[in-house]
Amino acid sequence: MSRTLIVSNRLPTKGQRTAEGFTFQPSEGSLATGLGSVYQADGNVWVGWPGLSVEEPAEQAQVTEQLRQDSMAPVFLTEDEIRDFYEGFSNSTLWPTFHYFSQYATYEQAHWEAYVAVNEKFCRAVLELAGPEDTVWVHDYQLLLLPEMLRQQRPEATIGFFLHIPFPSYELVRVLPWGAQLLRGMLGADLIGFHTFGYMHHFLSAVSQLLGLPSHNGQVETRTRTVLADAFPMGIDYGRYAEAAASEAARQHARTYRQALGHTRIVLSIDRLDYSKGIAQRLRAFELLLQRYPEWRGRVSLLMLVVPSRDQVAQYAALKEEIDELVGRINAQYSNIAWNPIHYFYRSFPPGELAALYRLADVALVTPVRDGMNLVAKEFIASKTDQRGVLILSERAGAAQELADALLINPTDTGQLVEALHEALHMPVEEQQTRMAALQALVQQYDVFAWTRLFLDRLTYSKIKQQTLA
Ligand code: UDP
Ligand code: G6P
Repeated sequence: MSRTLIVSNRLPTKGQRTAEGFTFQPSEGSLATGLGSVYQADGNVWVGWPGLSVEEPAEQAQVTEQLRQDSMAPVFLTEDEIRDFYEGFSNSTLWPTFHYFSQYATYEQAHWEAYVAVNEKFCRAVLELAGPEDTVWVHDYQLLLLPEMLRQQRPEATIGFFLHIPFPSYELVRVLPWGAQLLRGMLGADLIGFHTFGYMHHFLSAVSQLLGLPSHNGQVETRTRTVLADAFPMGIDYGRYAEAAASEAARQHARTYRQALGHTRIVLSIDRLDYSKGIAQRLRAFELLLQRYPEWRGRVSLLMLVVPSRDQVAQYAALKEEIDELVGRINAQYSNIAWNPIHYFYRSFPPGELAALYRLADVALVTPVRDGMNLVAKEFIASKTDQRGVLILSERAGAAQELADALLINPTDTGQLVEALHEALHMPVEEQQTRMAALQALVQQYDVFAWTRLFLDRLTYSKIKQQTLA
């Protein structure tokens, strides 16, 4: 029977070394949380890095065996690879470039070489596991070269690729010294998926301008094959979030939080630590709300979760300091004995507590300056079982293309953000429910299962089409 091998840099679980051996906990980030619900069907396997460095062969065997029981196969990265491939090329070159932060990008030949070598390592791992009938589905910017590497070894293989972050305008891609190689790497796939049509068009334009390959209706004619590009906006496991928010455990947590917070209205923000998420801009907007509308002092709090992420990369460490300072300043200026403007947590939360926070929040404030999709926005929607609550969403998140009933804002326009917050906090319940019902219908219909089916069906279709044309 044919299976699907999901391949991504990070596995949906991350390991930790403890006195008793290795323990595992869920990874953060949309790729892991989203696909985590679907990958185990039909004997599928997820290939990726378990999130820590394990160099001893005996320990590697132990981790491999533990993960095998959950249908995962590890690719181990050395400490040098973590530095040069993961923190280096992936997160100091590609991530900033693709999120329009070119000023943060570094261009190191050694990082590029590590990127090539680690993509080759993944290629070997996949070839060992994949039978000729299996489908290989490669995910995200850490593995842009992998589709073409696999194609070289297995010309007939069925290979899909999905990019979970924005694909930027050609003007940014051309700045990268390795832009053409990266595009050729992606074109090894049969189907290339993006969250939005905008990203897809940018990709096709870069392919045309850097490689001289024209496209028609999303089809790129390479020398040997036709490759299809298309938009597939990723969804969430709607049922899981709706059930979690309605569960007795979430109600209990929410009651405890409510007792501690009194009657204060709650504005919720949840992100990984990342400069693309607009966290500092959001804090400034919240500060301005308290300045411009003193009526909210003592009556609204920002509950802000920042999940530690990539803190070995200089820009992330600097952002952490900036956030600490801003939160400290705002709280010092406005808090009183009974009320804190900002409740700030720098850690990840277990799913049950996240569900309670989504349930409790009056407003979700999702203001990335760039974001491939943003699943937090969709999780908030799914958790609102009474349909009360308002989503404020950046127009520069991929999710904004679908979620037109949110209050859409430009995240760099602090004044607009303040007005949106004020409007959200005053919004009549009826309007909240009308908007939320429309948002829920959409997020429920296009959930992560529909997304997976759509992508894999299109992949099968494009393969059949290629074969009939050959
Ligand atoms: N998340 C988590 N633990 C936390 C906070 C967040 O697992 O303590 C999850 C959150 O539920 C969401 C994901 O991390 O599924 C973040 O995805 P998003 O698309 O918002 O942004 P990304 O991190 O992928 O850039
Ligand atoms: C985003 C990326 C994922 C990545 C996740 C967490 O969602 O698209 O590929 O796994 O962030 O980042 P990390 O660097 O911890 O894997």
